[in-house]
Amino acid sequence: MSYIVEMLHITKDFPGIRANDDITLQIEERSIHALLGENGAGKSTLMSILFGLYQPDGGTIRVRGREVKISDPNVATSLGIGMVHQHFKLVHNFTVTENIVLGMEPRKGPIIDIREAEKRVEEISKLYGLAVDPRARIEDISVGMQQRVEILKMLYRNAEILIFDEPTAVLTPQEIHELMQIMRKLVTEGKTILLITHKLKEIKEVADVCTVLRRGKLIGTVPVSETSEARMAEMMVGRQVSFHVEKSPARPGATLLRIEHLNVKTAKGVLGVRDLSLEVRAGEVLGLCGIEGNGQTELVQAITGLTRPESGRILLRDRDITHLSIKERTDAGIGHIPEDRQKHGLVLDFTLGENFIIHNYYEPPFARYGILNRKKIQENAERLIREFDVRSGQGALTAARSMSGGNQQKAIVAREIDRSPDVFIVAQPTRGLDVGAIEYIHKRIIEERDKGKAILLVSLELDEIMDVSDRIAVIYNGSIVAIVDAASTDENQLGLMMSGAYRPATAAAAQE
Ligand SMILES: Nc1ncnc2c1ncn2[C@@H]1O[C@H](COP(=O)(O)OP(=O)(O)O)[C@@H](O)[C@H]1O
Ligand SMILES: [Mg+2]
Repeated sequence: MSYIVEMLHITKDFPGIRANDDITLQIEERSIHALLGENGAGKSTLMSILFGLYQPDGGTIRVRGREVKISDPNVATSLGIGMVHQHFKLVHNFTVTENIVLGMEPRKGPIIDIREAEKRVEEISKLYGLAVDPRARIEDISVGMQQRVEILKMLYRNAEILIFDEPTAVLTPQEIHELMQIMRKLVTEGKTILLITHKLKEIKEVADVCTVLRRGKLIGTVPVSETSEARMAEMMVGRQVSFHVEKSPARPGATLLRIEHLNVKTAKGVLGVRDLSLEVRAGEVLGLCGIEGNGQTELVQAITGLTRPESGRILLRDRDITHLSIKERTDAGIGHIPEDRQKHGLVLDFTLGENFIIHNYYEPPFARYGILNRKKIQENAERLIREFDVRSGQGALTAARSMSGGNQQKAIVAREIDRSPDVFIVAQPTRGLDVGAIEYIHKRIIEERDKGKAILLVSLELDEIMDVSDRIAVIYNGSIVAIVDAASTDENQLGLMMSGAYRPATAAAAQE
C-alpha cells in the first residue's frame, strides 16, 4: 500500500502537556481521512505539525514516500499541503481575489495583474462548484463563503493534500451539506482530504477512514463503512455515550420571561426582530429554532442588554427590564451563555480561575472588604474544572488565551450554569463541542429546568433543539411563525417552517 502522507511516531510537548504522544497516521491518496477526538485531544497540533506551524519533538514525516522536514508553512505549500484553519485569516476590506493572491500576486511587468487572477479564481471556483464571486469583499459575504475563499486559497496554490480543521463548526446545516458535496468533488478531482472533526454524523456521511485520538494518544484507525457512530464515540470518549437526553416531561409553572411586541434593529440598521412576542415559563426549555440570521442574535442581545430595542417590552417576572443595564439584568436573575465566545465570553488576559468569578468577584466568598480570597477562588475553579471536564495545562492559573476554543466554551458554560439564573438564555451552547461534553451540558440544562428555571435555548443544531426543548418556537424573518410541541414535531416539519415555506394552523394564533 502506498500512502501520500505518513506521520510516524510523532510526539509533541507543550509546557505541562504532551499534546501528541507517539502518533502514527497514514493517509491514502484520494481519500477523506477523518481525525476524530474530543477538544484538546491533539488534532490541531498534529495537523499544525504537518502544515509546518510546529516542529515535532520526535517522529518523522513522509510525503509521497519521501522523508521531509516541514520547517514552515512555505515548505508545506511547496509539498502541496494546504490548511483551512478554525479561525479564518482573511483581510476583511479586501476582495476575494485580493485575499487569495496575497503573497503571490501574478505580475504583468511591475503591475499586479488582478484581472488574470480573478479569471483563475473564477475557473477554480467553477471546477469545484464553490460559487464564489471573485470580486466580492470579504466583509460582505457569509462565513460559509469566507470558508470557501480559504479553500480557493489552497487550490490556487495547487494544494493536493487539504487539511480542514473543524470546518463545520461555523456553518449552518445547509452550508454543512454543501461543504460535504464540495469535499467529495475535491476527492473526485484527485485531492486528498484530512478532516478534523468531532461530529460523528459528518464522518459517517463523508469520510473513508477515521483515526481517533484521545488525550494526545492514538486510539485506533478504522474504515468508516465498517464501524458505527456509537463505536467511534466510545473510542473518542473512552466510555459509552448516550445520544439521547434523558428527561421527564416538563412541569411548567409561572411565566418568568415575557417578551411583548419587540422590535430590534440589526448592526446594519434594519429591523432584525419584528413585533416578536414570546413567553418562557418556569420549569420548561423553550427552543428557538431558525436559519442563521433570522433575528436570533438580535433577540438574544436585546434580552441580555447588549442592544436596545426600538420598541416593545421585556419582562422578568412582571418586572420591566427593557431599559436595565447588562449588570442590572444579571443581578435581576438573567443568565446568558453567549453565542460569540470570542467577544462576550471570557476575558482572555485573565486566568481561568479569574474568569470563573467574573460576575461576582467583589462578593463573599471570593472577596471580603475588597480583598480577594485566593484560596476560595482556587477551590471554586478546581470544582468547575472537575465537574465540566475543562482541559487546561495549569488548572485555575491557566491563561484563558492559551486554552483551546472548545475548552473556553466549556469554561463559559460552567460559569453560567453554576450561577443557576432564574431565566437562562442559552445560545449555541454546544457549538464546536464533542459528544461527551454535549451530553454533560444537556444534562445540566435539564437539571436547571427541573429546578424550576426558565430556559430559552437558541441553537442552529436541529437535533439539539429537538432533544432538549419542551416547546419549540420557530423564528423566521424576525418573527415567531410557529410554536410547536417538541414531542410531536420532526426535522422535516421544522425545516419547512424555518424556511418560511409552511405555516401550521397554530402559527396564526402564535402571531396574534
Ligand atoms: N501553542 C500551545 N501552547 C501550549 N499548549 C498548547 C498549544 N496548542 C495546544 N496546546 C495544548 O495541547 C493540547 C492539544 O490541543 P489541540 O491540538 O488544540 O487539541 P484539539 O485540536 O484536538 O482540540 C491541549 O491540551 C492544548 O491546551
Ligand atoms: Mg483543534
